[in-house]
Amino acid sequence: MNTKREASLSNSRFLRACRREPVDATPIWLMRQAGRYMANYRALRAQHSILEMIRSPELSAEVTLQPVQAFDLDAAIIFADILTLPAEMGLDLEFISGRGPVIHNPIRSRADVDALKPIDPSEALAYTLDAIRLTVKELDGRIPLIGFSGAPFTLACYAIEGQGSKEYLTARAFMLQDPAAWDALMTRLADTVASYLIAQAVAGASALQLFDSWAGLMGREDYRRFVLPYSKQVLDQVRAATDVPLIHFATDSTAILDLIAEAGGDVIGVDWRLPLDQAWDLFGQTRAIQGNLDPARLLGPTDELKRAASMIIDAADGRPGHIFNLGHGINKSTPPERVAELVDFVHRYSAGKTAAQV
Ligand code: CP3
Repeated sequence: MNTKREASLSNSRFLRACRREPVDATPIWLMRQAGRYMANYRALRAQHSILEMIRSPELSAEVTLQPVQAFDLDAAIIFADILTLPAEMGLDLEFISGRGPVIHNPIRSRADVDALKPIDPSEALAYTLDAIRLTVKELDGRIPLIGFSGAPFTLACYAIEGQGSKEYLTARAFMLQDPAAWDALMTRLADTVASYLIAQAVAGASALQLFDSWAGLMGREDYRRFVLPYSKQVLDQVRAATDVPLIHFATDSTAILDLIAEAGGDVIGVDWRLPLDQAWDLFGQTRAIQGNLDPARLLGPTDELKRAASMIIDAADGRPGHIFNLGHGINKSTPPERVAELVDFVHRYSAGKTAAQV
């Protein structure tokens, strides 16, 4: 990569905030910022399945750029999905309209774990790495690109359950009934996730987010036993290989936020259930924080949206290390005008607030 581009990226609001350095205004990006709430996404989606779009580096790069062309966002996130990794390991994945992801051959035994294909992500997931290279080239140093993976626990939830679920009881029963098979599965996933994330940084991603969407289902003791060691393994392995900032996110995670931080991450992603300052206190100022607008706020009137956004920025109180985001993915019925209003409001309202503390 050219060094001029690298230097301007490194000085970007988003990467400065990841490193807890002062910024001229709070950086903002939105989880699931590419997607069905945008008309140009729906137009492409009418012609291609989601997996076709992800497996084509050109389409993936195009969709990645859609929201950053439409809004003044401070980071792009590569268009992919957490479930392509287990799919390449041999799980038969289908996205069914109205039902979400379905795995036709879920893992239900130790033999199923052993039958998973060992993969080298730089080959099996080359399409996403190519999409990263293409997108970085097209962004040309304007804003950083975030790479991501699902965390072992959230991937195991889908792999065992075979579909989305409120409680993932099949997965959590498996964990208790056959802890050795659980360990084997989580270790396989952790190794593969770590090499996938490292490959994304090598391909040009400037930051990496580990999505542990369903970790908040776990009580503290079970998180510590069955989840934390594997997320820690991933984040330690990635940290040893690259110095890009690592973002660690789970939703409904208030009760375990300190443990999520213990597993690792330079930036901890938090949902909207606690005010931002209270969530930050749970793991402390040694980490940056990403969040924490309720995605439902984008479905209401502008004044309610701005009120909530200003409360979040006020709660950050000028401390360096806040990246504005939603507490979970954007809803598909979000009016794009609200997104434009939010992004501009966050920049205007926060301008000068953290720089004042330099
Ligand atoms: O943030 C981004 O813009 C990058 C792209 C991205 C997608 N999925 C694209 C996608 C990211 C970061 C993900 C992560 C992901 N995928 C997670 C973790 C984040 C979270 O929300 O907790 C999870 C749990 C998944 C699994 C997944 N993929 C589900 C449950 C669904 C169905 C959602 C639905 O509403 O139907 C998907 C499909 C998916 N992945 C879509 C997008 C834009 C919708 C696809 C479509 O039908 O067009």
